[in-house]
Amino acid sequence: MTTRDVLFLLGSSRAGGNTETLARLAAEQLPAGTGQRWLDLRELPLPDFEDRRHAGGHPAPAGHAATLLEATLAATDVVIASPLYWYAVSTSAKRYLDHWSGWLRDPGAGFRQRMAGKTLWGVTALADTEPSAADPLVGTLRNSARYLGMRWGGVLLGNGSRPGDVLSDTGAVARAKTFLS
Ligand SMILES: Cc1cc2nc3c(=O)[nH]c(=O)nc-3n(C[C@H](O)[C@H](O)[C@H](O)COP(=O)(O)O)c2cc1C
Repeated sequence: MTTRDVLFLLGSSRAGGNTETLARLAAEQLPAGTGQRWLDLRELPLPDFEDRRHAGGHPAPAGHAATLLEATLAATDVVIASPLYWYAVSTSAKRYLDHWSGWLRDPGAGFRQRMAGKTLWGVTALADTEPSAADPLVGTLRNSARYLGMRWGGVLLGNGSRPGDVLSDTGAVARAKTFLS
Protein backbone atom coordinates (compact mmCIF):
# COMPACT_ATOMS: atom_id res chain seq x y z
CA MET A 1 0.00 0.00 0.00
CA THR A 2 1.25 3.45 -0.87
CA THR A 3 1.43 5.74 2.12
CA ARG A 4 1.35 9.49 1.85
CA ASP A 5 3.27 12.02 3.88
CA VAL A 6 1.69 15.41 3.51
CA LEU A 7 3.65 18.55 4.34
CA PHE A 8 1.51 21.58 5.16
CA LEU A 9 3.39 24.87 4.91
CA LEU A 10 1.55 27.73 6.57
CA GLY A 11 2.25 31.04 4.87
CA SER A 12 -0.02 33.50 6.62
CA SER A 13 1.49 36.36 8.58
CA ARG A 14 -0.91 35.63 11.45
CA ALA A 15 -1.77 32.54 13.47
CA GLY A 16 -5.15 30.85 13.25
CA GLY A 17 -6.26 32.58 10.07
CA ASN A 18 -8.71 31.39 7.45
CA THR A 19 -6.09 29.69 5.30
CA GLU A 20 -4.94 27.49 8.17
CA THR A 21 -8.55 26.75 9.17
CA LEU A 22 -9.32 25.64 5.62
CA ALA A 23 -6.15 23.56 5.39
CA ARG A 24 -6.99 21.84 8.68
CA LEU A 25 -10.50 21.04 7.42
CA ALA A 26 -8.97 19.42 4.35
CA ALA A 27 -6.43 17.53 6.48
CA GLU A 28 -9.18 16.08 8.70
CA GLN A 29 -10.36 14.07 5.71
CA LEU A 30 -7.02 12.35 5.09
CA PRO A 31 -7.24 8.63 5.70
CA ALA A 32 -5.83 7.25 8.95
CA GLY A 33 -2.20 6.37 8.47
CA THR A 34 -1.47 9.36 6.26
CA GLY A 35 1.52 11.26 7.60
CA GLN A 36 0.99 14.96 8.32
CA ARG A 37 3.62 17.52 9.11
CA TRP A 38 2.71 21.13 9.76
CA LEU A 39 5.33 23.86 9.51
CA ASP A 40 4.58 27.54 10.01
CA LEU A 41 6.84 29.66 7.84
CA ARG A 42 6.64 32.46 10.44
CA GLU A 43 8.53 30.16 12.81
CA LEU A 44 11.09 29.16 10.18
CA PRO A 45 11.96 32.48 8.56
CA LEU A 46 14.18 32.17 5.51
CA PRO A 47 16.70 34.81 4.55
CA ASP A 48 15.96 36.81 1.41
CA PHE A 49 16.96 34.66 -1.49
CA GLU A 50 20.14 35.73 -3.27
CA ASP A 51 20.50 34.63 -6.88
CA ARG A 52 23.98 33.15 -7.02
CA ARG A 53 23.37 30.91 -10.05
CA HIS A 54 25.98 32.73 -12.09
CA ALA A 55 28.15 33.86 -9.20
CA GLY A 56 29.76 30.74 -7.85
CA GLY A 57 26.64 28.89 -6.77
CA HIS A 58 24.58 28.76 -3.61
CA PRO A 59 25.84 27.82 -0.15
CA ALA A 60 24.54 24.53 1.22
CA PRO A 61 21.16 25.07 2.90
CA ALA A 62 21.55 25.67 6.62
CA GLY A 63 19.30 26.48 9.56
CA HIS A 64 15.63 26.92 8.66
CA ALA A 65 16.42 26.38 4.99
CA ALA A 66 17.86 22.95 5.79
CA THR A 67 14.77 22.13 7.88
CA LEU A 68 12.43 23.15 5.07
CA LEU A 69 14.46 21.33 2.42
CA GLU A 70 14.49 18.13 4.47
CA ALA A 71 10.73 18.38 5.15
CA THR A 72 10.01 19.07 1.48
CA LEU A 73 12.04 16.11 0.28
CA ALA A 74 10.50 13.79 2.87
CA ALA A 75 6.94 14.55 1.75
CA THR A 76 4.92 12.86 -0.97
CA ASP A 77 2.60 15.88 -1.06
CA VAL A 78 3.41 19.53 -0.45
CA VAL A 79 0.50 21.82 0.45
CA ILE A 80 1.29 25.52 0.29
CA ALA A 81 -1.32 27.15 2.51
CA SER A 82 -0.93 30.83 1.72
CA PRO A 83 -3.48 33.60 2.01
CA LEU A 84 -4.04 35.71 -1.06
CA TYR A 85 -1.90 38.80 -0.61
CA TRP A 86 -2.08 41.28 -3.46
CA TYR A 87 -3.44 38.56 -5.75
CA ALA A 88 -0.40 36.38 -5.13
CA VAL A 89 1.17 34.10 -2.53
CA SER A 90 2.38 35.69 0.70
CA THR A 91 5.95 36.85 1.07
CA SER A 92 6.97 33.88 3.20
CA ALA A 93 5.48 31.41 0.72
CA LYS A 94 7.14 33.20 -2.20
CA ARG A 95 10.48 33.24 -0.42
CA TYR A 96 10.17 29.49 0.17
CA LEU A 97 9.58 29.03 -3.57
CA ASP A 98 12.52 31.29 -4.39
CA HIS A 99 14.75 29.04 -2.29
CA TRP A 100 13.75 26.11 -4.49
CA SER A 101 15.92 27.81 -7.10
CA GLY A 102 18.99 27.36 -4.90
CA TRP A 103 17.99 23.86 -3.80
CA LEU A 104 17.70 22.86 -7.47
CA ARG A 105 21.39 23.54 -7.79
CA ASP A 106 22.49 21.77 -4.60
CA PRO A 107 24.24 18.72 -6.05
CA GLY A 108 23.74 16.71 -2.86
CA ALA A 109 19.98 17.16 -2.67
CA GLY A 110 18.85 15.69 -6.00
CA PHE A 111 16.03 18.21 -5.67
CA ARG A 112 14.67 18.08 -9.21
CA GLN A 113 14.63 14.30 -9.35
CA ARG A 114 13.04 13.98 -5.93
CA MET A 115 10.39 16.66 -6.48
CA ALA A 116 9.18 14.91 -9.63
CA GLY A 117 6.55 12.45 -8.53
CA LYS A 118 5.41 14.52 -5.56
CA THR A 119 2.11 16.40 -5.75
CA LEU A 120 1.84 20.14 -5.18
CA TRP A 121 -1.37 21.58 -3.76
CA GLY A 122 -2.47 25.05 -2.70
CA VAL A 123 -4.91 26.28 -0.08
CA THR A 124 -5.80 29.95 0.05
CA ALA A 125 -8.22 32.34 1.69
CA LEU A 126 -9.19 35.61 0.08
CA ALA A 127 -11.49 38.46 0.98
CA ASP A 128 -12.66 38.88 -2.61
CA THR A 129 -15.86 37.06 -3.52
CA GLU A 130 -14.64 36.64 -7.09
CA PRO A 131 -12.49 33.46 -7.23
CA SER A 132 -10.63 34.65 -10.33
CA ALA A 133 -8.86 37.20 -8.09
CA ALA A 134 -6.69 34.23 -7.07
CA ASP A 135 -5.69 33.37 -10.66
CA PRO A 136 -2.13 34.74 -10.26
CA LEU A 137 -1.60 32.60 -7.13
CA VAL A 138 -3.03 29.55 -8.88
CA GLY A 139 -0.81 30.17 -11.90
CA THR A 140 2.29 30.56 -9.73
CA LEU A 141 1.73 27.24 -8.02
CA ARG A 142 0.54 25.31 -11.08
CA ASN A 143 3.41 26.48 -13.24
CA SER A 144 5.93 25.83 -10.47
CA ALA A 145 4.64 22.27 -10.21
CA ARG A 146 4.98 21.85 -13.95
CA TYR A 147 8.52 23.25 -13.93
CA LEU A 148 9.55 20.68 -11.33
CA GLY A 149 7.71 17.82 -13.05
CA MET A 150 5.37 17.51 -10.07
CA ARG A 151 1.77 16.40 -10.20
CA TRP A 152 -0.66 19.27 -9.76
CA GLY A 153 -3.35 18.84 -7.15
CA GLY A 154 -5.07 22.21 -7.56
CA VAL A 155 -5.97 25.01 -5.18
CA LEU A 156 -8.68 24.99 -2.52
CA LEU A 157 -10.14 28.49 -2.32
CA GLY A 158 -12.11 29.90 0.59
CA ASN A 159 -13.60 33.30 1.24
CA GLY A 160 -12.90 35.26 4.39
CA SER A 161 -11.41 38.34 5.96
CA ARG A 162 -11.54 37.97 9.76
CA PRO A 163 -10.23 34.70 11.21
CA GLY A 164 -13.04 32.14 11.23
CA ASP A 165 -14.94 33.73 8.33
CA VAL A 166 -14.06 30.86 6.02
CA LEU A 167 -16.25 28.51 8.06
CA SER A 168 -19.24 30.45 6.69
CA ASP A 169 -18.15 29.70 3.12
CA THR A 170 -20.21 26.54 2.78
CA GLY A 171 -18.85 25.81 -0.70
CA ALA A 172 -15.26 25.90 0.55
CA VAL A 173 -16.08 23.75 3.57
CA ALA A 174 -17.70 21.19 1.26
CA ARG A 175 -14.78 21.24 -1.18
CA ALA A 176 -12.32 20.77 1.69
CA LYS A 177 -13.84 17.37 2.43
CA THR A 178 -12.63 15.84 -0.82
CA PHE A 179 -9.79 18.17 -1.75
CA LEU A 180 -6.77 16.11 -0.77
CA SER A 181 -8.18 12.73 -1.71
C1 LIG B 1 -1.19 42.23 2.92
C2 LIG B 1 -2.56 41.74 2.56
C3 LIG B 1 -2.92 41.68 1.23
C4 LIG B 1 -4.18 41.20 0.86
N1 LIG B 1 -4.48 41.12 -0.46
C5 LIG B 1 -5.67 40.60 -0.84
C6 LIG B 1 -6.00 40.46 -2.23
O1 LIG B 1 -5.22 40.78 -3.11
N2 LIG B 1 -7.21 39.95 -2.56
C7 LIG B 1 -8.11 39.56 -1.61
O2 LIG B 1 -9.18 39.09 -1.96
N3 LIG B 1 -7.82 39.65 -0.28
C8 LIG B 1 -6.63 40.17 0.13
N4 LIG B 1 -6.32 40.26 1.48
C9 LIG B 1 -7.26 39.70 2.46
C10 LIG B 1 -6.82 38.30 2.89
O3 LIG B 1 -6.60 37.45 1.80
C11 LIG B 1 -7.86 37.66 3.81
O4 LIG B 1 -8.07 38.47 4.97
C12 LIG B 1 -7.46 36.27 4.27
O5 LIG B 1 -8.46 35.73 5.12
C13 LIG B 1 -6.14 36.29 5.04
O6 LIG B 1 -5.74 34.97 5.26
P1 LIG B 1 -5.52 34.38 6.74
O7 LIG B 1 -6.85 34.59 7.46
O8 LIG B 1 -5.20 32.96 6.52
O9 LIG B 1 -4.42 35.16 7.37
C14 LIG B 1 -5.09 40.76 1.86
C15 LIG B 1 -4.73 40.86 3.20
C16 LIG B 1 -3.48 41.34 3.57
C17 LIG B 1 -3.11 41.43 5.02
